[in-house]
Amino acid sequence: MHTLEYSTEKKSTTSIFVSHDKQYFRELACGRKFVVISSENILKSYPEIFQDINLITIDDIESHKNLATIEDIIGKLAGFGVDRSFILIGIGGGIVCDITGFVAHIYMRGIRFGLVPTTLLALTDAAIGGKNGVNFGCNKNMIGSFDNPDFIVADSNFVQTLSEEQYMSGLGEVIKYALIGNGEILRILTDDKDKVLARDGATMQKVIGDAIRTKIEIVKQDPDDKGIRQILNFGHTIGHSIEITEGIPHGIAVVKGINAAIDISFKAGILPEKEAQFIKQLLIDFGYDISYHLGKKQFEALANDKKKENSHIRFVLLEGIGKPIIKNLTIDEIARLTE
Ligand SMILES: NC(=O)c1ccc[n+]([C@@H]2O[C@H](COP(=O)([O-])OP(=O)(O)OC[C@H]3O[C@@H](n4cnc5c(N)ncnc54)[C@H](O)[C@@H]3O)[C@@H](O)[C@H]2O)c1
Repeated sequence: MHTLEYSTEKKSTTSIFVSHDKQYFRELACGRKFVVISSENILKSYPEIFQDINLITIDDIESHKNLATIEDIIGKLAGFGVDRSFILIGIGGGIVCDITGFVAHIYMRGIRFGLVPTTLLALTDAAIGGKNGVNFGCNKNMIGSFDNPDFIVADSNFVQTLSEEQYMSGLGEVIKYALIGNGEILRILTDDKDKVLARDGATMQKVIGDAIRTKIEIVKQDPDDKGIRQILNFGHTIGHSIEITEGIPHGIAVVKGINAAIDISFKAGILPEKEAQFIKQLLIDFGYDISYHLGKKQFEALANDKKKENSHIRFVLLEGIGKPIIKNLTIDEIARLTE
């Protein structure tokens, strides 16, 4: 068990309690009154967490990650008599975390909040870094805030109850950290692949701790997402266009996006062939289908990408493992380098 801390100009310190028990949030509330936001799914799998608490459940599906849900939660908070002395606690995947942070940011002009992420994606990504929000129509995360929680309790045991698809989706993000970060996660992925796939407790504690550390190191340097933080988008530009056009889970689409970014990096003469082959084999060894097809629909989605500036897309490539670089590419260049 250990604690990581990070702070940004926007908020005092966020403490991340890595490998602590999920119930630890009760102690962290420090005698403050609290209300928990979670979902029926999580309540069913972990009823013991929710004993004797004021609970608001939401439908944690992407189509309900919207302003109507926020309004509903605000009505319930008012009904519980929540004021600024309370702390709001989100227990769930990325949807619950994003919604909790946003509600906490706007309710009574801001109340404190903590997060207990329950998916591999939320443990390593969505809960970390202070981005919160909801979708607006088909625009993902269009309305939101930057606001860091007071604390995050990262209990890696949650991964045991994830569906195979959810787990492999979260693992796609972990592989991203392994390729852009220092070599530690990559070492575990290559030496202990079977343990990672079997969700071995001690191995996953280590992987999750290292992934969190990788993300906070990057976020600390760029809390407003205007510079180096963009390297976290590695695999996401093409991954996102595949996710929205083909309905593939986020992290699984990111793996296809990573493969495309490797092709581009190699064909542009940036990444040596040996490393490109090593990375492709790693993705295949983890059982991912890394094939991708970029047609008219995918290029239209790319053209609408948030990372686009004028006619260029800010694209994350690799010069080598642990060496991401950002290049401006046109859609035509992307098409040529992925042929
Ligand atoms: N804020 C950020 O920086 C950031 C980063 C990445 C993703 N996101 C957001 O995260 C969301 C996706 O999050 P997600 O992939 O964590 O999934 P999710 O929140 O969509 O949850 C997926 C499903 O898993 C269930 N679930 C959650 N924990 C479980 C557990 N331990 N065992 C069994 N089932 C469990 C949920 O009830 C839900 O049905 C997207 O909305 C995305 O925009 C945000």
